[in-house]
Amino acid sequence: TNPESVSLCPLNSAAATEPEPLCIFGTGDLGRSLGQRLLQSGYRVVYGSRKPHSCGPLPPGTQAMSHSAAAQSAALVFICIHREHYNFLETLAPQLQGKVLVDVSNNLKKNLYPEANAEYLQRLVPGAHVVKAFNTLSAWTLQNGPSDANRQVYLCGNSAEAKQAVAETATKLGFTVLDRGSLCAARELEDFPLQLFPEWRLPLRIAVGLTAFFYFYLLIRIVIYTYVQKGDDISFRIMVSLANKVFPIVSLIMLSLCYLPGVIAAFLQLYRGTKYRRFPDWLDRWMLCRKQLGLLALAFAFLHVLYTLIIPQRYYVRNRIAGSTILLIKENKTSAFDSALAWRSDSFLSTGILGFGLYVLLGITSLPSVSNALSWREFSFVQSKLGYLTLFFCTLHTYLYGWNKFLKPTSYPWYTLPGYLLCLIVPTVVLVLKFLLLLPCMDRSLTRIRQGWDRTNKN
Ligand code: HEM
Repeated sequence: TNPESVSLCPLNSAAATEPEPLCIFGTGDLGRSLGQRLLQSGYRVVYGSRKPHSCGPLPPGTQAMSHSAAAQSAALVFICIHREHYNFLETLAPQLQGKVLVDVSNNLKKNLYPEANAEYLQRLVPGAHVVKAFNTLSAWTLQNGPSDANRQVYLCGNSAEAKQAVAETATKLGFTVLDRGSLCAARELEDFPLQLFPEWRLPLRIAVGLTAFFYFYLLIRIVIYTYVQKGDDISFRIMVSLANKVFPIVSLIMLSLCYLPGVIAAFLQLYRGTKYRRFPDWLDRWMLCRKQLGLLALAFAFLHVLYTLIIPQRYYVRNRIAGSTILLIKENKTSAFDSALAWRSDSFLSTGILGFGLYVLLGITSLPSVSNALSWREFSFVQSKLGYLTLFFCTLHTYLYGWNKFLKPTSYPWYTLPGYLLCLIVPTVVLVLKFLLLLPCMDRSLTRIRQGWDRTNKN
């Protein structure tokens, strides 16, 4: 043979001969995409179809035949048909005896049937080895091949050899395989594609709830109050001024909500004296959505920064500055330079910028491609230590913004608290609790508990 050529087949003698055929039942989108991908990876593909002569365009190089003829020609059969049409497979049981059947089906809704599609298939053809796999991939992914974001194929089944055979095929197609256990896991795999951002649901609800509440609250205490008390219409503030209060307020509260469950968990461990007891469910669920809470908080901080950048361009702001300058000129006065005010405003802006810089760093390190490249120690350093530092800077920024405003009686229209004061409650609590945890006596006990020491066992 040509010494320049490179064989891409495995280096065993069997592989050098004709590639083994694989069978696909069903000539729909998924069946066709799968066939195409298998062909490209060097397999021979035969289709099993009800109407082998009129089943539409199939990938060139493949063959269509009757279901029973196709089943007999291959050891591995992909079932790319809807569950509603499975019942005819019962009649093919003799031909499918001992074969590996790969169930790739999904349902349109959860709990549509009492048992998982793959379990139903196994019941129809008890002599075959059913493996649930590939159902989390779309026809589109199959056709285009695996990409970084979706290279994982989950599978489950009762026969180890059958799973091995499917895993080898999936690996050859370029996917990485994750074994989820026996066929009992099939329902979970079938529910997977039906999920709609499950881990984002709670954080999104919190974000929408807080935004709606603060918009309404500030609308009443700023716009409506001014209209009722003074008859002035300042409704234009809804667009920028209110938005630039609501977004940072929601951002700060959500950032602190990322760190609150951690300190609650630490106090719970200190109180219980052990790490070997489960946290309550609500705390577990809260901890699991911290990343999403943090990323949404970052999005809100971004909006705050963008709104802040346009402040000098606003007609209202330019008009006010021009007005006060003209007044000074008219009265032939100069405004005295207030060094303390300069310090305060610079520190306020600087802490905001530092907080935002760290915020972005936290966001970047939570991306899977970045966090996978970090060791656990590096990841926890960034997410924990730098995370608290971020919260500290953002909280300080808000305290410096408020400064002595809370002393003025005009800050409490209709006896309501300003938004910035309300949003300082949770972050202040988190920072104080974290500070307490850092005290040497607390820190020492917590470290011992986390290293496995158990007070309840000692007594
Ligand atoms: C308020 C600037 C980042 C939280 C403000 C204001 C400015 C500002 C100018 C006053 C807005 C107004 O007059 O209504 C900046 C700059 C930042 C930054 C330049 C970074 C580049 C952040 C970050 C947070 C934050 C990361 C944390 C989430 C707040 C809060 C307020 C505020 C809570 C008070 C809102 C209110 O009640 O009026 N910031 N900020 N800021 N900022 Fe920032």
